[in-house]
Amino acid sequence: MCGIVGYVGKHNPKDVLLAGLKALEYRGYDSAGIALKNEDETQIIKSVGKIKNLEEKIDCSSLIESNIGIAHTRWATHGAPTENNAHPHHVGKVTLVHNGIIENASEIKERLLKEGVKFNSDTDTEVACGLINYYYDGDEVKAIENAIDELTGSYAFGIMFEGNNNLYAVRKGSPLIVGISDNENYIASDITAIINYTNKYMLLEEGEIAVISDSEVKLFKDGKEINKEVLTADIKAEDKDKQGYEHYMLKEIMEEPILLENTLKTFLDDMSLVPDLGDYEEIHVVACGSAMYAGMIGKALLEEKAGIRVICEVASEYRYKKIIYDRKTLVILVSQSGETADTIAAMRKAKENGIDTLAIVNVKTSTIARETDKQIFIEAGPEIAVATTKAYILQVAIFGLLAYKASHSENIISEIKKLPRYVKEILDDRDRYLNLAKEIYKNNDVFFIGRKVDYAICMEGSLKLKEVSYLHSEAYQAGELKHGTISLIEDGTPVFGIITDDDIRDKTISNIEEVKSRGAKVIIVSNKLVSGYDRQIIVPKISEFFQAILIVPCLQLIAYEVAKLRGCDIDKPKNLAKSVTVE
Ligand code: AGP
Repeated sequence: MCGIVGYVGKHNPKDVLLAGLKALEYRGYDSAGIALKNEDETQIIKSVGKIKNLEEKIDCSSLIESNIGIAHTRWATHGAPTENNAHPHHVGKVTLVHNGIIENASEIKERLLKEGVKFNSDTDTEVACGLINYYYDGDEVKAIENAIDELTGSYAFGIMFEGNNNLYAVRKGSPLIVGISDNENYIASDITAIINYTNKYMLLEEGEIAVISDSEVKLFKDGKEINKEVLTADIKAEDKDKQGYEHYMLKEIMEEPILLENTLKTFLDDMSLVPDLGDYEEIHVVACGSAMYAGMIGKALLEEKAGIRVICEVASEYRYKKIIYDRKTLVILVSQSGETADTIAAMRKAKENGIDTLAIVNVKTSTIARETDKQIFIEAGPEIAVATTKAYILQVAIFGLLAYKASHSENIISEIKKLPRYVKEILDDRDRYLNLAKEIYKNNDVFFIGRKVDYAICMEGSLKLKEVSYLHSEAYQAGELKHGTISLIEDGTPVFGIITDDDIRDKTISNIEEVKSRGAKVIIVSNKLVSGYDRQIIVPKISEFFQAILIVPCLQLIAYEVAKLRGCDIDKPKNLAKSVTVE
C-alpha cells in the first residue's frame, strides 16, 4: 500500500506535500518523491527510504516556482525500492503517482515499447503513466478514460499534465479523496494527510475522474459531469500527533481504556444496537492479520457461549477457496482500515453469492464500510502505528458483545462496565512489562502457547512481538507443541503460557510443565495464579466474553518494550504497511 497527496492553490506545494507524506508514511516507506510543476517545467525529486531522506534532498535542491504538485510514499510491489522506481513517474507530458497494482502492466508495456515509448523503471506505475500519455492529445479527461478502460488491477492515481494547471485524480480499488478549501484543493489517500489544512472532502468512487484547480473541483463519470456531496471529517488535527508519547503505538495502547469506555457505553446503553446473530445457521469470520486473530476470539466465544457454528478464515484464502453456502449464512468482515484488498475481495465474493455481510470496521469512509450490508464501527479514531493495538482490542470487545447478546446469558452489564478501569490498571503497571521485556529481548525465539480462546490470544501476542521487534516468535496450540516444535525449546527459551479458560487450565499447565522441564523460561499470563512459576502476570478474572481484553494489553506492552530495547522503528516497522491494499 502507498500514500498519495496532491495540492493546487496559491502557494508553493512543498510544505503541504511533505506534511501530507509524513502523515501517510504509515502506508509504506520504502521510497518517496514529489513533483512540482509550472507552465515551463516539471521538477521531480525522489529518494529511497523514509520521508526524512526526501526532506533532506529537497532542502538541498533549488525548487522551481510552482503552485501545483503531487507526492508519494511507496510500499514496493512491482520493482525494487530504488530511486528509479520511486514515484512520481513522468512519461512525455504526464506526471503521475499511484497506489495499487496494475495487473496487465507487462503486456501494455510491451505494446508501448513497440510504439517507441521509453521507460526508465521496472514499475507498473510508469506503464500507466505511459499509457495515459499515449492517449493524450490535449483532452486530459479523455486520455485518462481511454487508459483506465484498458488497465486491470487496482489504482488511485494523482496526475498532472504539462500545459495546464489542474490536478487530476481517479481510483479503482484503492482509496482517494479530494480535499476542499477556499482557493486551495487537495488529493490524498486518506484525510489524515490534509486534516491540518481542511476537514472538507469528497470521496472519489470507482471510475470517477476529478479535475481540480485552485478554485474548483469538477467530477466526471463515463464522460458526464456529476455532482458529489462534500463531507466533513470527524477527526481533529490533534488526533494525529503523539500527544506527548514517544511513539504512536504507546499512545494508542494507552487510549484503550477510554475507547473501551466509549464504545462499550454506546452498546450497553442500547443493546438493540448489537446485531442479533441468532437467526443465522452459520457465520463466516473473514479478515487478515490481527483482525483475523480478533475473529478467532469471536469464533471461540460464539461457538462456546452461543452455540453458533462459525468458520474463521483468512481473507486471502477465503477469496479463492470453494465456499459452500448451503445454510443461512452471515459473513463478518473484520478490518481496521476497511481497505485490505483480500478482505474486500472476500466481501465481494460473499455479496456475489447473495450472502449477508457485516463489517466490524474502524474507517467509516472505507470500501468495506461502504459496501457491506451492515456495519459496526469500532470508533477507535485514527490508528497511526502500523501495528494495530486499540483497534484490535475494540474488535475483540465487539465480538464479546455479539457473543454475549447471542448467548442470552444472565445480565453482566455491571461487570462489563469495569473493563476500562481494569485495563487502565493493567496498563499503568509499565515496569512489570519492561522487566519482562529485558528478560527476553536478546533471545532468538519466543513461543506463545494456549488452548481454545487462549490460543487465539497467543496468535495476536506473537504477531505483535514479531512485527514491531523483529524477534522470531510462534504461537502454538498448547497440546500441539509436543508434536514436533517442542524440539526447538532450549535452555532459557521464553515461552508465554496464556491461561484464562478454566475448562482446560490444568491441561495447559501440564503443557507448560513439559516446556519448563526442557529448560524454557516460562511466563504465565493468566486470571489466576499458577503455583511454581516465578514469572506471572495475573489479571482480574472477569466474564469469558471479555477476558481476552485484559490479557492482550499486557502482551502489547511487552512487545512495545522489547521493540524499544532492540532499537526498532516501532511505529513504522520495516517491510510493513498499515493497510495492505494489494493482494
Ligand atoms: C496488525 O498489527 C498488522 N499490521 C496487520 O496484521 C493488520 O491487522 C492486517 O493487515 C489487517 O488490516 P485491516 O484490519 O486494516 O484489514
